[in-house]
Amino acid sequence: MAVIKCINCSSEFDLSSKVVLCPKCNNLLQVEFKKIPRVSWSVLRSRPFRLWRYRELIPIPKDAQIISLNEGGTPLIKLVNLVKELGVKEVYVKFDGANPTGSFKDRGMTVAISMAKYLRVPLVACASTGNTSASVAAYAARAGIKPLIIIPKGKIARGKLAQAILHGAIIISIKGSFDTALEIIIKASEKGLIYPLNSINPWRIEGQKTVVYEIIDEINVPDWIIVPVGNAGNISAIWKGLIELKKFGLINKLPRLAGIQASGAAPLVKAFREGLEKPEFIDDPKTIASAIRIGKPVNWFRALKAIRDSKGVMIDVTDEEILEAQKLLARYEGIGIEPASATSIAGLKKLREEGIIDPNDKVVAIATGHALKDPDTALLHNVTITTYEVGNIDEALSILEKIIQITN
Ligand code: F0G
Repeated sequence: MAVIKCINCSSEFDLSSKVVLCPKCNNLLQVEFKKIPRVSWSVLRSRPFRLWRYRELIPIPKDAQIISLNEGGTPLIKLVNLVKELGVKEVYVKFDGANPTGSFKDRGMTVAISMAKYLRVPLVACASTGNTSASVAAYAARAGIKPLIIIPKGKIARGKLAQAILHGAIIISIKGSFDTALEIIIKASEKGLIYPLNSINPWRIEGQKTVVYEIIDEINVPDWIIVPVGNAGNISAIWKGLIELKKFGLINKLPRLAGIQASGAAPLVKAFREGLEKPEFIDDPKTIASAIRIGKPVNWFRALKAIRDSKGVMIDVTDEEILEAQKLLARYEGIGIEPASATSIAGLKKLREEGIIDPNDKVVAIATGHALKDPDTALLHNVTITTYEVGNIDEALSILEKIIQITN
């Protein structure tokens, strides 16, 4: 019913093949349906609101055991207090930070790990700016497979590192950037040393596309979906999912996509703006949003195609704009997200100001990771005068009385 197909030379491989990059031309592979799966919204909706509700739309072999932590089914939160500030009437945040390990990566991981188990691989591995490694470590633990992660030394947020350690990953910390770590993973995979779980793995994309299934399931097709972009796997997955839903007759229109990068790590924005065939990669990407500190996004081709095909846009936002957006969402809507995720809110603000998004558009911003992932950035950039050090109960009560007097 489906095959693995090269996005460049169209070579096809069996679903149970261990290929990750095309053995003929070394390009990315993707899973393609050969037949339209027969399923309706009413059947899908009769199941629990979780990722595997969409089982027929994720063509893993029928006899594969599903390794799951009940991912998906994350909250879609309609903003109420920031509507004026953002200038758009109907905005939703899809809070994918509410997945089991606190990021959207779990969507791709449940599918890719299920396939790793099916393929009987002894060792799974990834390069990571943090979230992928946390997710790989947790899902590998669940599957009983050894996880190995390669991370850029000193450049991943503490919450994410703590998760990888807690779940028992073997950690290789390298001097270079995420891009170097990914190069190592690709070479190791070519040598058959590991089974890679980065977004070069076509099964990751199959899981990640489900975020839009859930959005459409709840509010139908919005006008815009705004997505933080790093290695560009997620935006590619989202577009693939949308195209499939349309092909299968489950939706009849498509939203526009807005991809947002951090200004110091925005090779795709430049390529989009200047109409370049291929992006000019960056050797030393810089941004406070460590999750998307990536200079050579491997999924650049399909991401740029997704943006162009959806009549969408790519823009960049500065670190100041990212931190401001993170704070706004936290303080006025109660939604705590990590800096990389706040690019979608900062991007929305900018796109509205530039008149690209209309006040009457229905907009969904994807929030990819939880605030707890990166406590250091939250603490460093949100110092307030509202912390009072007290030594005992009487002191606390007297300060409390003073505070109440001031706030009255
Ligand atoms: N948001 C968060 C919180 C992320 O962790 C990532 C990527 C992205 C957005 C960008 O997604 O790469 O699919 O465009 N994190 C990867 C990691 C690179 O290793 O955790 P993308």
